[in-house]
Amino acid sequence: MRQLAFFLRAHTISQSASSKSQSRLLRALQDMRRNGARKGHAMKDILQELSDRRQDARLGGGQKRIDSQHAKGKLTARERIELLLDEGSFEEFDMFVSHRCTDFGMEDNKPAGDGVITGWGTINGRMVYVFSQDFTVLGGSVSATHAQKICKVQDMAIQNGAPIIGLNDSGGARIQEGVDALAGYAEIFQRNIMASGVVPQISVIMGPCAGGAVYSPAMTDFIFMVKDTSYMFVTGPDVVKTVTNETVTAEELGGASIHTTKSSVADGAFDNDVIAMTQLRRLIDFLPLSNVSGVPERPFFDDPNREEPSLDTLIPHNPNMPYDMKELVLKTVDEADFFELQENFAKNIITGFGRIEGRTVGIVANQPMVLAGVLDSDASRKAARFVRFCDAFNIPLITFEDVPGFLPGINQEHFGIIRHGAKLLYAFAEATVPKITVITRKAYGGAYCVMASKHIRTDVNFAYPTAEIAVMGAEGAVGILYRNEFKETTDAATLLEQKKNEFTEKFANPYVAAEMGFVDEVIEPKFTRPKLIRALNLLKNKRDTNPPKKHGNIPL
Ligand code: HXC
Repeated sequence: MRQLAFFLRAHTISQSASSKSQSRLLRALQDMRRNGARKGHAMKDILQELSDRRQDARLGGGQKRIDSQHAKGKLTARERIELLLDEGSFEEFDMFVSHRCTDFGMEDNKPAGDGVITGWGTINGRMVYVFSQDFTVLGGSVSATHAQKICKVQDMAIQNGAPIIGLNDSGGARIQEGVDALAGYAEIFQRNIMASGVVPQISVIMGPCAGGAVYSPAMTDFIFMVKDTSYMFVTGPDVVKTVTNETVTAEELGGASIHTTKSSVADGAFDNDVIAMTQLRRLIDFLPLSNVSGVPERPFFDDPNREEPSLDTLIPHNPNMPYDMKELVLKTVDEADFFELQENFAKNIITGFGRIEGRTVGIVANQPMVLAGVLDSDASRKAARFVRFCDAFNIPLITFEDVPGFLPGINQEHFGIIRHGAKLLYAFAEATVPKITVITRKAYGGAYCVMASKHIRTDVNFAYPTAEIAVMGAEGAVGILYRNEFKETTDAATLLEQKKNEFTEKFANPYVAAEMGFVDEVIEPKFTRPKLIRALNLLKNKRDTNPPKKHGNIPL
């Protein structure tokens, strides 16, 4: 229009155009102005329509259902996203997607968004993809289009290399859609597997998660639950009652407490939605964005040369006395910031993330306070899965070792400790990330080999002077070695004491292993942090590979 006005002015001033053509041009200008005004008016309406549609979509299943969600102590899907992501960073996709079902009167009930909110945003400036199921819309049930929305962000997360976070609150497959909904689930599962080891996948269960629906979270790297408001099970209490005649509540069958203490399905439980979202932000800060991005580097304020004299007295003089391995972990990592996983399951082993000089490390540590830090089936499975996550995402591994061996017992053998122990051995041995081990006290038998020993490609192996590295403890060893002498002697007690002392003198120290080069250095405990820092820097550019293969066959 500005061009036309200029053209008109130019013609008028030059007096070169006829009055007829001038009036024609003037009319054209007036028409254009009128049209422009009409357009402006229409645009206002158009923008209003967009705003109304958005408003409608944001209301999900309506105020009544939102109130009911709040009354259950749950936040809405949108409120959760708001808390999870940096303020104003959420970019939503597919807000107006609605289902295509025309059965059971569904053609008259087509809520915008179809029960799941999807998109991306940032957590402390780092990109994440997110989907958040909206229980207020048809119970957050999964239709074909609901599943398509989730698949879209899964694909984008894989392609663009950023974690994907799923906030699960759903009644499962949309009953009205039948196999179309099941197909949607299977599409999600397939992408979970494709994303595995490529980008971190995190699930938070914030309501129901039942039936086959549990298998999407089960395929992700970490599952967190919210206490009292979430549950997960393959078949619910009613089916259990019908099939096995057992009476059980949803909470007893698959609540947060069961899955964090007994089944180990979940990696952690939080008191409410707000804490869950805050802790998730904390976790994301530790995680690489993808398997090619490297670990995040954050500012740190903890002195890299910090000595910790209290560690020199951490290990009790009596080898049978427990001590808290967490103290060593906390006194080693930056600012004592440690994100523990599976804290309440298999407490005889500790797993979690910390930072050293601002860079994430994965920590595996035997806990002498629980079952003397022994390796049993549960501890082996727990640690193996953690080690594999760290290896997949290039997170260096630090192992603090005080292990008297594998747990004996009929239960353990019958439960398959052979296979479960093998998982941990396999995981440590196949890992090509920087690996550092600190033997604080006991390193006995097969457990010595398994716990990131030199022989399975651990890069730097430290031992405290209190380390005892042997096939077994003194008492067991002399009982076998001197069986005949014990039968013949009249003073078994004195003989036992004498032989035990001899054995302890010879083997209950780090020096035999150090002489063989199986321990690189015997260090004072107070220098643990600076020693680890130097070793990690040494390994910064480590390159190691496994032989080419389709994939290995971890003893699952
Ligand atoms: C369609 C569903 C639904 C579903 C809930 N709703 N689940 N709609 N398909 N699967 C709707 C309800 O009709 C209701 O709609 C609203 O969501 C809220 O549900 P309520 O029952 O009022 O809520 P609540 O009392 O809190 O109970 C929640 C619930 C229950 C325990 C999840 O709704 C329930 O049992 N739903 C069915 C669960 C189920 O069997 N799903 C299929 C599982 S098999 P209105 O309009 O009243 O608000 C499965 C297979 C997956 O998922 C296979 C993958 C391989």
